[in-house]
Amino acid sequence: MSRNLLDIRTLEPQDIHDLLKLAQNFKTQIRAGQTLTQSPQRVVGLLFFEGSTRTRVSFEQAANYLGYRVSNFASGGSSMSKGETLKDTILTLKYERLDALVMRHRSSGAAHLAAQYFGGPVLNAGDGQHEHPTQALGDALTILEHKGRIEGLRVAIVGDVRHSRVARSNAWLLHKLGAEVRFIGPRALMPVNMSMLPGTAFFDLEAGIEGADAVICLRLQRERMQDGQISSVKEYTRLYQVTRSVLRIAAPQCLLMHPGPINRGVEVDDASADGDSSAIHDQIENGIYVRMAGLHWVFQEGSPQAKAKTTSIAAPKRSPKSARTVLKAAQGKAKK
Ligand code: NCD
Repeated sequence: MSRNLLDIRTLEPQDIHDLLKLAQNFKTQIRAGQTLTQSPQRVVGLLFFEGSTRTRVSFEQAANYLGYRVSNFASGGSSMSKGETLKDTILTLKYERLDALVMRHRSSGAAHLAAQYFGGPVLNAGDGQHEHPTQALGDALTILEHKGRIEGLRVAIVGDVRHSRVARSNAWLLHKLGAEVRFIGPRALMPVNMSMLPGTAFFDLEAGIEGADAVICLRLQRERMQDGQISSVKEYTRLYQVTRSVLRIAAPQCLLMHPGPINRGVEVDDASADGDSSAIHDQIENGIYVRMAGLHWVFQEGSPQAKAKTTSIAAPKRSPKSARTVLKAAQGKAKK
């Protein structure tokens, strides 16, 4: 029985350590130009219902390095444009004998729904504003490489936390591995229910960034915003842009990170994004190795506990209502 990689919230710290270790080994092997031991022939479906550069290309690279073939799927040229539901599309791909699915979708909960119908393995490449587990793994690998540890670090996540699946996955991962997580941003861009996330909210950039070992900037996700959620981009930039002078308040050798795509001159200035403390390019490359790890890991036999957790579409215990709403939304969208 295979596993899914749907979120970070339900992973055990040991799963995260295993995935990071696998990624480190893959990185060493690929960087040394080694050919990987022949993996079984597998076909991985790449289903991207939302725009993507880094995540899609690195999943494709990861699959290629592992010796798997990919089948690219875009809703535009498929039967979904004729009205086929997400459920029927997933079932079709199952009976087309694809071995795994990587899926990005605008609805939170969509990857869980896909896992239910596909039967696994499914890897979530970003679902709405819910989670983006492989981005968090790549970010963790980057922090580990630069800082040698995650436990005990202070990590500030700055910007549009409310709409960010990256923020959620990162917060869970960093918290599970013992880091202190701080969220910084305007009140309107903080999650409505902050108590659902492991971290402390700061509304003042300088107060939040003080002593941070790593700062993760987030893009203003205007495609998910309601009108009026921020008064003006100019005002946001003035109050929350991460600049070199702001980074002086952070810990020495603070790492500057951004999952991309960057709105240059909004959430971060050019000097910081392109400066010595920037780890943005490492984040991109590490994306390949954690996705190799993810693909390899889902095909492994999971513990009965991990299987039960990751194959279930059950709502998180602490928020049964919100997760049900999310799933309903995903099903509703799929029916359109
Ligand atoms: C992020 C995403 O799609 O969630 N990008 C990524 O995968 N690297 C962040 C974003 O879109 O702002």
